[in-house]
Amino acid sequence: MNPKRIIVGVAGGIAAYKACSLVRQLSEAGHDVRVIPTESALRFVGAATFEALSGHPVRTGVFEDVDEVPHVRLGQEADLVVIAPATADLLARAVAGRADDLLTATLLTARCPVLYAPAMHTEMWQHPATQHNVDTLRRRGAVVLEPASGRLTGADSGAGRLPEPEEIATFAQLLLSRHDALPHDLSGVKVLVTAGGTREAIDPVRFIGNRSSGKQGYAVARVAAQRGADVTLIAGNTVGLADPAGAHVLHITSAAQLHEAVTKHAPDAHVLVMAAAVADFRPASVAATKIKKQPGVQEGPTIELVRTDDVLAGVVHQRIDGQLPNMRAVVGFAAETGDANGDVLFHARTKLARKGCDLLVVNAVGEGRAFEVDSNDGWLLGADGTEAALEHGSKTLMASRIVDAIASFLRVGDA
Ligand code: CTP
Repeated sequence: MNPKRIIVGVAGGIAAYKACSLVRQLSEAGHDVRVIPTESALRFVGAATFEALSGHPVRTGVFEDVDEVPHVRLGQEADLVVIAPATADLLARAVAGRADDLLTATLLTARCPVLYAPAMHTEMWQHPATQHNVDTLRRRGAVVLEPASGRLTGADSGAGRLPEPEEIATFAQLLLSRHDALPHDLSGVKVLVTAGGTREAIDPVRFIGNRSSGKQGYAVARVAAQRGADVTLIAGNTVGLADPAGAHVLHITSAAQLHEAVTKHAPDAHVLVMAAAVADFRPASVAATKIKKQPGVQEGPTIELVRTDDVLAGVVHQRIDGQLPNMRAVVGFAAETGDANGDVLFHARTKLARKGCDLLVVNAVGEGRAFEVDSNDGWLLGADGTEAALEHGSKTLMASRIVDAIASFLRVGDA
């Protein structure tokens, strides 16, 4: 762990209370966090709360502690500035280059990555003035997250919710590992992602499942959405994972339901990312009532299994047949172990050829790797014979590399 200096700027919106959780998460990750609220933010959350959570004094103006020149020093020394919530007013002041409080002065002196997490009412977010400000900040190199959709302050709901603190913290960590991880380069690209694992019912209480948590697929969806893509995420049994901000999430249970959802959404999609662990076999029939033990009988029942459809192969065939004219990139995943016939990469290359996808993300599995954990590594194989190692890191860092590969594959296709 490499502790960094992070400034959390808090603007005056009701979502300011969520900044407390963000500060805590970044501090608990070992970083040195300083909070700079605006005067209006302190009408929502008291300075004492931010001071206790960060372990540093909290100031809002440029005329306090003048001898330490904080309005210049804090920005200059920061490794990352995160503004959460970024209100419409704060975005406008940042674009105008105002320096009438400590936070905006810090934004002018910071040379590190700056991450804005907007939160406001839908009308304010969609207003051309705000959209223009967001475009300007992005053109200048800042990362402005897409807000989440859902319940807003009043009874209304729509786009404009602050992304969850976990999500903001995830992107903060990503920008500390890779400054260039989140260009806004996928506007207009429709990305269909499958994630998680399927469950095949045996009877009303039992199923055959697998150990996929969905974290890697969610990370791909999250990064693609924040790079501007229009993301549909088909999620299988991803209990406890929060919906990525900006993605449209559909929940399914079985391989057949996943197949149906992919078949429905693939014709619209430009990119398919098959991160889901889809069952290869399902029980031939599902018992209508719970299968009971037979008194005095030691043997268990035999469950006959039949093959499920290969969803990825189906999409590849449809594309070859010209039925998916919009589809420009198909990405498969392979979780492999080496065996007597060959190592992980040998099996992965064979699978890439067999599945006919454009890119294959390969994870070595077994011994606590890949499944249910937060970090990952592997390889990215291209149908053109390219092979790149994905260095060990968070699943979000891996996702950023995978989305880089997709973006450059699309650019090559465009050229
Ligand atoms: N996949 C799929 N439909 C299935 C099984 C797998 O679309 N019924 C997809 C997965 O989402 C993944 C890729 O195929 O992107 C490879 O999955 P994997 O289970 O490694 O491949 P299999 O073809 O099942 O090969 P194996 O014999 O190694 O299990």
